[in-house]
Amino acid sequence: KLEAVIFDLDGVITDTAHFHFIAWQKIAGEIGIDIDEQFNEQLKGISRLDSLHRILVHGGKRFDFSTEQINQLAERKNQIYVALLDQLSPAAILPGISDLLKELRQQQIRIGLASVSRNAPQVLAALHLTSQFDFCADANKIQHSKPDPEIFLTACAGLGIDPSRAIGIEDAQAGIEAIKASGMLAIGVGQALTHADWLIPSTQYLNMNALQTLWDRHAA
Ligand code: BG6
Ligand code: MG
Repeated sequence: KLEAVIFDLDGVITDTAHFHFIAWQKIAGEIGIDIDEQFNEQLKGISRLDSLHRILVHGGKRFDFSTEQINQLAERKNQIYVALLDQLSPAAILPGISDLLKELRQQQIRIGLASVSRNAPQVLAALHLTSQFDFCADANKIQHSKPDPEIFLTACAGLGIDPSRAIGIEDAQAGIEAIKASGMLAIGVGQALTHADWLIPSTQYLNMNALQTLWDRHAA
């Protein structure tokens, strides 16, 4: 039986993945590194400092900055990102998500959050969704970014659910890998993702019926 659904946040519940991109593009531009949406795919699901590291490697500037400068760049990126969060309201919840959360609640299926963003609590609050989640993994306590399964395993443990009884939903390739490594079924939202058990182009296709069909097909 399906007992839990664990959601990624940025790019699944709301389009903050785009805000992360805008903020990184500004910081990267200031240090002479060009990043585009295609490169940004590699930053999805990756922690703040790991993302900056990837940007520096991408720009051939891996060794050009001190630890202090790197921390400052990451901090300024976060300030830009947090300022963009002012625009967030429940209207920014992606299609299908609010209804799915209600359906899961009605079916008594547990609801978890697995976001490596330290801003996740603020984002959920701005969307008025905090009370919809039974357990949110704390990004501050996570040692390994996705694709490591740590955050999904932490979410399952927090819900008291075995991963083999849960579905994870992700928009990042690293996130799909993390879900699969944790032993859950994976739903991918996006275009060029691989290894998902079900791949959809938009959250609008998410509903209880579709999840149950996926579950019945894969988990006998
Ligand atoms: C993830 C995003 O959810 O959170 C990444 O997909 C982001 O792009 C990461 O880098 C960390 O976010 P924050 O808010 O802690 O900088
Ligand atoms: Mg995401």
